[in-house]
Amino acid sequence: MKALITSGGRGTRLRPLTHTQNKHLIPIANKPILHYAIEYAVEAGITEIGIVHGAESDAVPKGIGDGSQWGVKITYIPQEAPLGLAHVVKISEDFIGRDKFVFYLGDNIVVGGLQRFIDAFETNGSNCHLTLARVKDPERFGVPEIKGDRIVSIEEKPAVPKSQFAVSGIYLYDSTIFEAVNNIEPSARGELEISDAHQYLLDKGFSVTYSEITGWWKDTGKPHDLLEANRLVLDNIKEDLSQAEIENSSVSGKVQVGKNTKIINSTVRGPAIIGDDCLISDSYVGPFTSLYHGCKIINSEVEYSILLKECLLQDVDIRVEHSLLGNGAEIVRVENKPSTNRFFIGDQSRVELL
Ligand code: DAU
Repeated sequence: MKALITSGGRGTRLRPLTHTQNKHLIPIANKPILHYAIEYAVEAGITEIGIVHGAESDAVPKGIGDGSQWGVKITYIPQEAPLGLAHVVKISEDFIGRDKFVFYLGDNIVVGGLQRFIDAFETNGSNCHLTLARVKDPERFGVPEIKGDRIVSIEEKPAVPKSQFAVSGIYLYDSTIFEAVNNIEPSARGELEISDAHQYLLDKGFSVTYSEITGWWKDTGKPHDLLEANRLVLDNIKEDLSQAEIENSSVSGKVQVGKNTKIINSTVRGPAIIGDDCLISDSYVGPFTSLYHGCKIINSEVEYSILLKECLLQDVDIRVEHSLLGNGAEIVRVENKPSTNRFFIGDQSRVELL
């Protein structure tokens, strides 16, 4: 069994963060989103992983490396343009060969990993095994029509969904999928749709089975959605304070702290993760917060938020909550009259004053 992971696409839904970085490298609970996909594959005993990335950038190969840190071999497959998920599969045929494989959309996070789906695929002996999640807005996804316990059709982003299920971003295939991706035509939006490949398999009488999943997250483009993924992951972390320097502070709940980080005169309530080289001083860090390496929280309060590398909150006298700060972002109180707010923010940023 091999794994094929996506990391291309346009990333338009996560602007402004994706102006400066590939969305698959944005950290959730201090780990790039793509690491979750790789680690799920590694946990399932897969040693050969293909990652498809946009040919215009080497950010993913550079950021992820050759796989040796996980003891696996990663092969990079450049895609000349985001021509659809079935196109991703099509250009990976040489890498996959005749093996079975798990196709994993690198912008998805699934609590609990992949093994249970691989087991179901092997047990069913099907040509294609899909994972379905109940969602409130199926029209944003591939949607199956289910009769009894069988999928009878699949539509991509239908205006009138035939079920409450979304096809999530984990697919298991044998090599019949290549017959499908080589025989379908681009959709109205100009992409080779993976849902059309699945419909092809159904039309030709190949067996398409499924498992239902919970604990699934997929980006939808609002900061709130990344915060929700962060919550999902932080809920499952283990406490680790072994490297922390804690002085006159209260740290409770599941909290992970990196090396060379100081927590002084402060309260930290987990689940929360604090990276290396951070300073939390005279402050409060509340549940579901991820602070990446080099953040400084001084005389301020932050909760249910993600702060990327080297952010600074200093003397902020309102609690920063439900917030997402990009690399090096700073919110500081400056003593001056008249009292006003000043903003220096990047393209397509948003500030909400409540
Ligand atoms: O996440 C589940 C959904 O993913 C499914 O329900 C849909 O059936 C499926 O089409 C897909 O829909 P999205 O519109 O959400 O796909 P998105 O464009 O976000 O791409 C998903 C991943 O694949 C992401 O990692 C970007 C990458 N990608 C996408 C395209 C179109 C590529 O690497 N190359 C591509 O050409």
